[in-house]
Amino acid sequence: MTLVQNHESPLHQSMPPLEILFGKTPAMQSVRNKLEKVAETDVPVLIQGESGTGKEICVRMLHAFSMRAAGSLVKVSCPAIPHSLIETELFGYERGAFTGAHSTKLGRVEQAHQGTLFLDEVGSLDLSVQSKLLQVLQDGTFVRVGGHEPRSIATRLVSASNGDLRAQVDEGTFRLDFLFRINAVTINLPPLRQRIADLPILIDYFIEHYARAFKQTPELLSKSAVKLMQNYHWPGNIRQLENLIRSYVLIGSEEALVAELMPETQRTGGITTELDLSEPVSLKRITKQATQDLERQIILKVLQANSWNRQKTAKWLQISYRSLLYKLSEAGMPEVPSRPIRAPHLLRKDEEQRGLKQTPVSSRSRLY
Ligand SMILES: Nc1ncnc2c1ncn2[C@@H]1O[C@H](COP(=O)(O)OP(=O)(O)OP(=O)(O)O)[C@@H](O)[C@H]1O
Ligand SMILES: [Mg+2]
Repeated sequence: MTLVQNHESPLHQSMPPLEILFGKTPAMQSVRNKLEKVAETDVPVLIQGESGTGKEICVRMLHAFSMRAAGSLVKVSCPAIPHSLIETELFGYERGAFTGAHSTKLGRVEQAHQGTLFLDEVGSLDLSVQSKLLQVLQDGTFVRVGGHEPRSIATRLVSASNGDLRAQVDEGTFRLDFLFRINAVTINLPPLRQRIADLPILIDYFIEHYARAFKQTPELLSKSAVKLMQNYHWPGNIRQLENLIRSYVLIGSEEALVAELMPETQRTGGITTELDLSEPVSLKRITKQATQDLERQIILKVLQANSWNRQKTAKWLQISYRSLLYKLSEAGMPEVPSRPIRAPHLLRKDEEQRGLKQTPVSSRSRLY
């Protein structure tokens, strides 16, 4: 199948054009070839890549080009659901299954019937839940919590991971048989630094996109800024690039953009005890800020040392994966796909009526 966008479909409208998505580097061409081969089939697909490389967009494409495109694309952000709730969230429950279960509730698996079930960060699922999902993959059946009747569903499973699932198998936190089932086909998304030849078209695309969204007419970036961007390592990948360009279009300062790309220590000058004593100082505020800065720098270093793998990083730092995700989001690195920021007066009439909320521009400093 050759991928062709259908501009009438809302699913396609929310994606950048295919020539931007795939660019021209060989690594992305091979991603495109794989997508073309598997989109129409029902085989489970595993998408792997660092944070911000476009895993979610790839899942949306797989669904949009599948024979289940008319059904729902149901996303499960596995680490975001507390362990105690994941089973009922996925498989639903029968009335009376537990105190408070006043009526039957459909789980996400059932909601994805005739559509696509997307397990994001699949590596964070408990072994017991993996076993239940394995059953769904083996014979298309499951049982609601508190129920006895096996139910059949037809859905396509797509999973995403930014960690090393094979290593998790070795550690005993991921089932090998489940891994074999979910990765009938694996698509590896290259980090942005390995497809740097696509950087200029991505920059142009995001500038144009946000210029239109914010009704701005930004200056073109200077050659030296583009060169700096080409030599940068892009730990946050396309999401980081998109955030950077969005701020640039809004604020219009190339200096601010360049400063963001400087190493953290160069920007902050490290922790300092130099104080402006012309006015009272709040010891609490200063030490809190210093601790946060130090945490951010350490997390950044450990992330870098672990090739931006968040699971390994959490282990190295001896904190839970959840608390690492929390710290990352505190530092301003989004854990959810970023949505275009639009000032309320720039919302289209139909969006205003639907009550589309404005995403606030974060005033916190970014990790990257
Ligand atoms: N190839 C691409 N072309 C244009 N924009 C892209 C591309 N890939 C990703 N993006 C944009 O970058 C942002 C991040 O993409 P996405 O959410 O798909 O990444 P992800 O791999 O799921 O990240 P995470 O692991 O952090 O969840 C989105 O706003 C998306 O629209
Ligand atoms: Mg994602």
